[in-house]
Amino acid sequence: MTEIPHLENIIKLIKDKDLQRKVSEIVSKPQIEIAGVVYSGLSLEDSPASLTRHHSYPGGFVEHIVATAKVALALCDVAEEIYGGRVDRDMVLAGVVLHDIFKPLTYEFKGERYSTTNLAERLDHLTLVTTELIRRDFPLELIHIVCAHHGGQDGPMWPRTVEALICHLADYADSQLNGEVLRAARYLSRRATGEELPLLRSKEAFEIVQSKKAEGWQGVRKTVEKIRLNRPSSP
Ligand SMILES: [Fe+2]
Ligand SMILES: [Fe+2]
Repeated sequence: MTEIPHLENIIKLIKDKDLQRKVSEIVSKPQIEIAGVVYSGLSLEDSPASLTRHHSYPGGFVEHIVATAKVALALCDVAEEIYGGRVDRDMVLAGVVLHDIFKPLTYEFKGERYSTTNLAERLDHLTLVTTELIRRDFPLELIHIVCAHHGGQDGPMWPRTVEALICHLADYADSQLNGEVLRAARYLSRRATGEELPLLRSKEAFEIVQSKKAEGWQGVRKTVEKIRLNRPSSP
């Protein structure tokens, strides 16, 4: 089985052993078969979590899932400790791990940049995961979490359970946190140096944004140059 350390740690928190096993099965071999054709894509470790908007760099997919799990667990605490609600954490954890699990099937890396696969030209990741979970007899409550994770404005339906709401909010919060800092860092880099660093990573982006706060435009120029020099030639 492929070792994906951070994801494995989240999966281990699922108490229901049957559910844990089923989640682990998909994560260890993320692929889907349609009409006799097996589709697999980038490895989970190499995949971004979106083409340009958020986590759009190698390793971004795993970062997104780990960060979303942390936000979701914090929301579970708030729901229970402040509002006196009850949350099925197994459903939340499984939902977070699986909500984008077929995104890597929709990306390929060509000519130094990411683009979408032929599969993605026909089906989006949300539909792919939802249908595969139905095929694999996952509980309806979990399928709902995946189906509703984009909310009703960008997806087929709004969350109808507290667990689905928590996953939706955590997913949104992390994609915004990451995406906005990437956007700001690209803007600062463009303004300070006239160009952007390709496949800008989250840590680099946070460093660029913080350098503007600490040392102004001079700091941005220095930081961008330092990142450029430290980079290996390939991603
Ligand atoms: Fe998604
Ligand atoms: Fe997501």
